Amino acid sequence: MTKGLFVSFEGVEGSGKSTQMRRLANRLRQMGFRVVENIEPGGTRIGKQIRSILLEAAHQELSATAELLLFFASRAQAVDELILPALAQGQIVLSDRFTDSTIAYQGGGRQLGWDVVLTLDRVACRGLKPSLTLCLDLDVEIGLQRARRRNAEEGQSETRLDDESLSFHRRVRAAYHRLVELEPERVKLVDASRPLEEVEETVWRLVEQQLAGIQAGGC
Ligand code: TYD
Repeated sequence: MTKGLFVSFEGVEGSGKSTQMRRLANRLRQMGFRVVENIEPGGTRIGKQIRSILLEAAHQELSATAELLLFFASRAQAVDELILPALAQGQIVLSDRFTDSTIAYQGGGRQLGWDVVLTLDRVACRGLKPSLTLCLDLDVEIGLQRARRRNAEEGQSETRLDDESLSFHRRVRAAYHRLVELEPERVKLVDASRPLEEVEETVWRLVEQQLAGIQAGGC
């Protein structure tokens, strides 16, 4: 069905996944691979609008069910508009978060359970799943400190989820750990407390193993 390679980055707040994904994208491009980057929520023009509804700190009245459906609405648009076409052309798709985030944040953090998330995933993603998921793992308190400092420096207003309680974020991390236990072949836990360059090397070693069969240049 698909010829390319689909890799997702996951993790708790402040785990540095976006930086790592950018570095990986640069490295792959330097090697001649064609790389498409997606961000969830918000990888498409429609997704960006959904992102601002979801993350704006002022949107306190957003219900848990509406939140869940909006994350999947953004994802469904990215799957159809961006991800499937790129994979069909043999390209590498990197996604900053994907369905595992919804399992961790809405299923775990919000305690909506995994079943409803997996049911919606079947509608929105129709079986599309990353071949490799890099889950950047970090103590929740350290991660939140980093994320909140960054938000303050940038005057960031998209903080509705970052502002959730410590126990919410602990449930998110626990759900990620459970995913690693359940799908050890796909979901790899990466210790994000180490220096950036070391994390980058670990990420690279895991991705390198997936590159056999993917042609530089796509097609
Ligand atoms: P992101 O842009 O990755 O922010 P950060 O770099 O601060 O982690 O993600 C935005 C927020 O949305 C983040 O708090 C995690 C949350 N989120 C969910 O709750 N469910 C989801 O399905 C996704 C994709 C993200």
